Amino acid sequence: MVSMLTRRGFAARLSLGAAAIRMTTEMAYAQRAAAHSAEAFSKDMVWLNSNENPAGPPAVSLEAMREVLPLSGRYHYNEFGQIYKIIAGSEELTADQIVLGAGSSEPLHTAVDAFTSATRPLISVTPAYEGPIELARALGRPVVLTKLRDDYTADVKLLAEAARKANGGLIYLCNPNNPTSAAVKSGDVDWLVANLPANTMLLVDEAYIHFVESPDVKSAMPYVRQGKDVIVARTFSKIYGMAGLRVGFAAAKPAIIQKLSPLAMNVISYVSARAVTAALKDRDTIVPERKATLAKTRADLCAWLRERNVKYIEPNANFVMIDTGRNAREFITAMPKLGVAPGRPFPPLDNMLRVTLGTDAEMAKFRDVFWKVYKG
Ligand SMILES: Cc1ncc(COP(=O)(O)O)c(C=O)c1O
Repeated sequence: MVSMLTRRGFAARLSLGAAAIRMTTEMAYAQRAAAHSAEAFSKDMVWLNSNENPAGPPAVSLEAMREVLPLSGRYHYNEFGQIYKIIAGSEELTADQIVLGAGSSEPLHTAVDAFTSATRPLISVTPAYEGPIELARALGRPVVLTKLRDDYTADVKLLAEAARKANGGLIYLCNPNNPTSAAVKSGDVDWLVANLPANTMLLVDEAYIHFVESPDVKSAMPYVRQGKDVIVARTFSKIYGMAGLRVGFAAAKPAIIQKLSPLAMNVISYVSARAVTAALKDRDTIVPERKATLAKTRADLCAWLRERNVKYIEPNANFVMIDTGRNAREFITAMPKLGVAPGRPFPPLDNMLRVTLGTDAEMAKFRDVFWKVYKG
């Protein structure tokens, strides 16, 4: 609590200068919501509120970090060329097609900063991940939010139409979307890329892409390789379980990366970078294993909800948006008192409760507590 107040004070001082505005992370949003309830900080709280991965960093990453910790007294700039090559190569890209950052928050931040302006809006859906939207507002950039379709996915035609009306903009498409866990099919993304209005950049946030099972949903990374006006943001916080290590990247053609790089810090923790390169070596095992574990937990929760006639949005990520049938704030307030912290409110979906998928034991507690509150 004390450190949070200190951090807030620090943030307040920083915000005196517009240049110091920083995109807030999922963790900070979750913390901001939890801060209202003292119970939320109880010791055995089950935290299902910020879409982290209970598996944590892979064993090979822990080992790699232990190895290099004693060497962390130096910057290791000379090694970052190779680190860039490995991370870019993992997506069949070259080093000049990526820029690394502190999580994907930093690349998202730089993309908003570089490709929106007083006359060029950020265009997205409501609700979407708040970070880029709040940042655009803080920078005084216009924001246009379009409605979701009935299946809770983004309407790509509305996004393109908004960009056309504004004579250009930055379209932020989070796919799968946070908080809905719904995903836009690749045919729709294809259409959007083929129909991007003039002066328009597409930013696809793929924080949760590794969790997708549907064959109809695909990464937008091929568009980066084809040199389209597309930026893909990726993170090691989710499937790789490294949220606290803060590594992510933006991928785009070199001309776009050259616009993002000067706005980025351009250095990440050497220890974190080594954790990532170690994990990438084993990604062909790590990613499918984690995806399968998560998919089972997700299927179990959905089956449990269906048995009880509780509706939910068809999920594609490591969280599920549950329709509680009444204002979800009731759950958000009551559940932490019973030891489970669910997600924050996501207006305009006021009846929906976002729950991050945890371990089997955590999900058992979630079901128990959710059901108590649901039954009243
Ligand atoms: C959609 C989305 N994008 C980006 C982020 C930022 O996370 P990080 O900076 O840890 O990559 C999050 C965090 O939860 C997220 O949900």
